[in-house]
Amino acid sequence: IVDLVKISSKDDKTKFCIMPRKFVNQDLERIKNMDIFEDDIWVVTYPKCGTTWTQEMIWMIGSNIDYATSLSVQLNDRFPFLEFSGIFEEFPTDTFEICRNMKRPRYIKTHLPLFLLPDQLWTVKPKIIYTARNPKDTFLSWFHHHRHFQLYKGNKNDFMNAFVKDLMMYSPMNEHITEFWKIRNEPNILFLFFEDMKRNLDQEVKKAMKFLNKNYSQEEVDKLCKHLSFESIRDNKMVNKNEDVKSLKESFGEKYDENEFNFIRKGQVGGYKDELSAEENEILDEYVELSKIIEPSFEYKF
Ligand code: A3P
Repeated sequence: IVDLVKISSKDDKTKFCIMPRKFVNQDLERIKNMDIFEDDIWVVTYPKCGTTWTQEMIWMIGSNIDYATSLSVQLNDRFPFLEFSGIFEEFPTDTFEICRNMKRPRYIKTHLPLFLLPDQLWTVKPKIIYTARNPKDTFLSWFHHHRHFQLYKGNKNDFMNAFVKDLMMYSPMNEHITEFWKIRNEPNILFLFFEDMKRNLDQEVKKAMKFLNKNYSQEEVDKLCKHLSFESIRDNKMVNKNEDVKSLKESFGEKYDENEFNFIRKGQVGGYKDELSAEENEILDEYVELSKIIEPSFEYKF
C-alpha cells in the first residue's frame, strides 16, 4: 500500500534499504546532513525489536526516573520518531523538524539503518542504544503491525516471502542489525537484545544506567522494572500508543477496536512457535542462517 523504493548507499553499492518514496523526497538528504549534539540520546532499531520498550527504559534512566513527566507526557513527545512523517503520505506534522528543534538533551528514535543516519553521528558521537530481536518474533510482530495499520493487505505467506527477500520497509533486517553489531564496542554504543530484556530486565536496566552514567538504588531499579514490565507498558496510556493507533486507523476510515489490536501485543520470546507453520519456520531459519554468513561473529537470541 505504501509506495516503496530501494535506496542504495553511495559509498557501498551492496548496502541498501527499502523506504517509502515520500521519505526519499522529504527526508533522505536533510537527515544525512542533520546537526547532532553530543548530549543527544538515540534509540535505533529495526522495527518491532522492542523500540518502545527501550525508549521508555532509556528515557526514564536518562531523566532521573521522572514518573511525573513519564506518566503525563506521551512517549512520542518525549522521544519523537525522526522519519515518521516521511512514511505516511498524509501525516501532517513534520517529525524531523520536531526532533531538530527539541529541548536538549534530545531523545530521538529512528529505524533507519546505519548508512542512512546523519553523518555527524560518527564525528560528534552521542550515545546510541541499539536493540536487536530474533527475526521470527520480529517478522510476526511486523506482519501484525502492517495488517493493522493498513500498510499491507496480503496474506502472511506473501509477507514472509517479501521479508526474507529483503523487500519490506526498512529491509534488510539482517544487515540492519549486523552493521550495528560490528560497532557495538564503540564507547558511545550500547547494543541490547530484546530477549535479554525479557529474561533479565534488572540486568539490562543496570547496563543502561552504567552507559548513561546514572546511579539508582536497587529499590528504584525494582520500581522501574515494574514500570517497564509488559503489563505495565501495555496499560500505560503514555506509552502503549493506543491513541496513535486509534487516530491513524480513523484517518484511514477504519474503526478502532482496542480488543482487536494493541501495539503492545504479546511481548514474548518464542511467540512465533504458536503462530508459524513448520514450513514458515524453515524459511525463517534460512534467513537466520544468512545472518551468520553476513557477519559470523553475530548470533540472534531465541
Ligand atoms: P509483539 O508484537 O511480539 O508483542 P516496537 O516498539 O519496536 O514496535 O516493538 C513492539 C514489540 O515489543 C511488540 O512485540 C510488543 O509487545 C513488545 N513489547 C513492548 N513492550 C514490552 C514489554 N514491556 N515487555 C515485552 N515486550 C514488549
